[in-house]
Amino acid sequence: MLFCLQPQRLTQATIAAAVLGLFSIGAHAEHAAPAMPQSVDETPFASEREAVIWRQDELKDLERLLRQLRFDLVNNQDAQGAAPRLAELQEKATQAHFLPAFIAGTHGRGSDAKPEIWEEWDQFATGFTDLEQKVSTLVEAAEQEDYRAATRAFSEVGLSCRSCHRAYRYD
Ligand code: HEC
Repeated sequence: MLFCLQPQRLTQATIAAAVLGLFSIGAHAEHAAPAMPQSVDETPFASEREAVIWRQDELKDLERLLRQLRFDLVNNQDAQGAAPRLAELQEKATQAHFLPAFIAGTHGRGSDAKPEIWEEWDQFATGFTDLEQKVSTLVEAAEQEDYRAATRAFSEVGLSCRSCHRAYRYD
């Protein structure tokens, strides 16, 4: 995986994040979105193109994962079988996972991202925390083997995806 292949860049990014973190503590530590990556050097990626392709692939994976989970939980009512995939969903459907790949200005050719992402960064970032919350509801429903609640949670997750796409992705 990309992150493992780039130890030097990862170290750079970690140091940058730590320094940024120090400066942001106190100022707005409460609910500030992670900083917008201004250039590829602040990220684990080797190029902007790589970041765009990575985020598109990861989003496609997310879609596949959700389809599979719907099958596990809604069709098969198999919370046990779904557990590893739910853990993966909870790790991936997050701000922390996706925001580093949205480097400032990486819209245009080869991407469906709208430039508004970087004009309204905090709002864009909130789209991922909204998704995190909806995913938590889904995970709780699965843990309780409440399949009706899980079915409702899937709809909510889907709405969260679509709401961000409507604002920040070209169809
Ligand atoms: C906070 C915003 C946001 C959320 C939430 C979000 N997406 Fe997206 N999604 C985007 C953006 C922006 C793009 C366009 C990326 C690009 O082309 O550079 C995209 C693109 C995609 C793509 C197309 C990838 C490709 O092949 O080019 C898929 C599939 C996708 N999203 C699925 C999902 C699913 C499923 C969810 C919910 C579980 C979701 N997205 C939630 C912003 C979001």
